[in-house]
Amino acid sequence: MQIPSFRVDDQIALVTGSGRGIGEAIALGLAAHGAHLVITDLPDRLEPAQAVAETIRRDHGRRALVLPLDVTDLNSINATVAATVEHYGRLDILVNNAGINIPKFALEVTEEDWDKVLDIDLKGVFFCCQAAGRQMVAQRRGKIINIASQMGVVGYQRRAAYCSAKAGVVNLTRVLAFEWAQYGIRVNSIGPTFIETALSASFWQDAAFKADVLARIPLGYIGKPEDVVGAAIYLASPASDLVTGHCLLVDGGWTAV
Ligand code: NAI
Repeated sequence: MQIPSFRVDDQIALVTGSGRGIGEAIALGLAAHGAHLVITDLPDRLEPAQAVAETIRRDHGRRALVLPLDVTDLNSINATVAATVEHYGRLDILVNNAGINIPKFALEVTEEDWDKVLDIDLKGVFFCCQAAGRQMVAQRRGKIINIASQMGVVGYQRRAAYCSAKAGVVNLTRVLAFEWAQYGIRVNSIGPTFIETALSASFWQDAAFKADVLARIPLGYIGKPEDVVGAAIYLASPASDLVTGHCLLVDGGWTAV
């Protein structure tokens, strides 16, 4: 028996929003396991993205291309996938990581809040999948990993738009897994619990909120970006070849109780 590998040697991986946070950690993890990267972020946030690319080249000896990408802009998405294929010749792994949250009680959510969260967290994920999917269908292979959230499978206060978007990502993942299995493309999602990043930094100033979060995590701590990396490497690697349409929860047990 040949034991399946967790390596992604010489695979081409594009991670959205990988200038910082969970996206940065996943990009570094994929590079450490052998992938060449496309680091992408908003046009005005490319400096940190360049630094991530430099770390990949220096510490992991892998190639790293930096491209601007706004996932709310279809032209930007299509241009990024085209530039990736022009540079590397193919695209093997897409990690849809870019995302935002605007935490508000349901009675206070504006139409603008709703549209912004859904545009980035759900519509952006779909159109990145579609653009990468076209290339992967032609290649007859590919792995797509959508960073959803535990909030895609449970409800929580001040997260009407966010929970709706992330639940959409979890189920969109199943649809694409079904449609694209015939092309050898695997589509899975990851559902992290609260992770310490710029996105969540302001949340912890509210002591009652932090206590409530910790009380709901049986393992008793808030995650770090690196806690999500192993799940992403697994889902990108041949070790997960029979897994598609799945949401891998990295939630410290939040959804287990
Ligand atoms: P972060 O705010 O540190 O990083 C998000 C990245 O996405 C940034 O680099 C940002 O510039 C980029 N981005 C924002 N809008 C964009 C757009 N329109 N187009 C392209 N890139 C854009 O956030 P974090 O925490 O690293 O989150 C990454 C993903 O993980 C998100 O999808 C988030 O919903 C999800 N997540 C985060 C959790 C947390 O507690 N931090 C928990 C569960 C899921």
